[in-house]
Amino acid sequence: MQTLNRFLIESSIQMPLYNIIQYIIKPSKDLSRKINIAGLEDILGEAEVTNVQGEEQKKLDVYANDEFIKSLSECTHCAAMISEETEVIIHTPFPDAEYIVAFDPVDGSSNIDVNVSIGTIFSVYKRISTSGPITEEDCLQAGKNQLAAGYIIYGSSTILVMTTGNGVHSFTLEPHIDKFYLSDTHVRTPKDGKIYSLNEGNYIKFPEGVKKYLKYCQENDKETNRPYSSRYIGSMVADFHRNLKKGGVFIYPSTEKDPNGKLRVLYECNPMSFLIEQAGGKASNGFERMLDVVPTSIHQRTPIFVGSTNMVDKACEFMKEYSTKAQ
Ligand code: AHG
Repeated sequence: MQTLNRFLIESSIQMPLYNIIQYIIKPSKDLSRKINIAGLEDILGEAEVTNVQGEEQKKLDVYANDEFIKSLSECTHCAAMISEETEVIIHTPFPDAEYIVAFDPVDGSSNIDVNVSIGTIFSVYKRISTSGPITEEDCLQAGKNQLAAGYIIYGSSTILVMTTGNGVHSFTLEPHIDKFYLSDTHVRTPKDGKIYSLNEGNYIKFPEGVKKYLKYCQENDKETNRPYSSRYIGSMVADFHRNLKKGGVFIYPSTEKDPNGKLRVLYECNPMSFLIEQAGGKASNGFERMLDVVPTSIHQRTPIFVGSTNMVDKACEFMKEYSTKAQ
């Protein structure tokens, strides 16, 4: 069995990236252990504070955020971080370092208390400026500039799924040895799928294009294997992971309540979009390639359609025909 370290060394990844990945992995192992015994530790439930998005933070959100910040603050290659749980850019003691890490320490917080899969999402960029403290401009880059991206899913196994632009590889944590081992290499997602994943409870507030696409998914058609199946866990990592392996589309569209969607560009949608493209799939905001979108603020939200190429294309066809960007 090949360890993550050996894999990274053999894939001749540049030293700074190798290093940054180590500093992301370290707290994820501790977090995995905590999640496994969550009911026995005081980490379930609300922290009784809200984050920058105005969302209630769970105790585990706060704990995980602190641990990732602590770890990456020791990484000499990391100049700054952007976290879902922190309003401002987080500067490390290494202002002249070249890299920025964006992360969502715990994606799917609402599932923490009910023993359903959750995850950590991360993304690595190179700064634009050459030295001095990282500015907003350094962080507001299109997703196509990402150097590495991935997620750790804390499910029945803890699995790291990662890309550095040379395919998607996954590594399973062997908890007794506390090491990640390569479990799947050059992961490809099916071009077609049979699963659509979105919160159908919001149907009434969806743009017309999404409503029409949903109806299309539910129609009877032998040739295209319809009707498709609906699967929605409510943790993007878990929904994405299933669809990556089986084929499918994950959609979080704009709604009347949230015209820009719910999910964040820098630490949710971009990393997943980089991964899916590397696995042979597609990601769009409904109108343009997700990785081309240049955010204008570090916590910017966006609608997202991500997954099997033919399903994303079909959904976006409906968007273009029936919805306007403003919807
Ligand atoms: P958070 O990271 O704040 O827990 O948000 C979870 C995200 C994403 O993982 C999931 O797909 C989506 O929010 C679920 O939102 P709805 O409950 O609105 O469907």
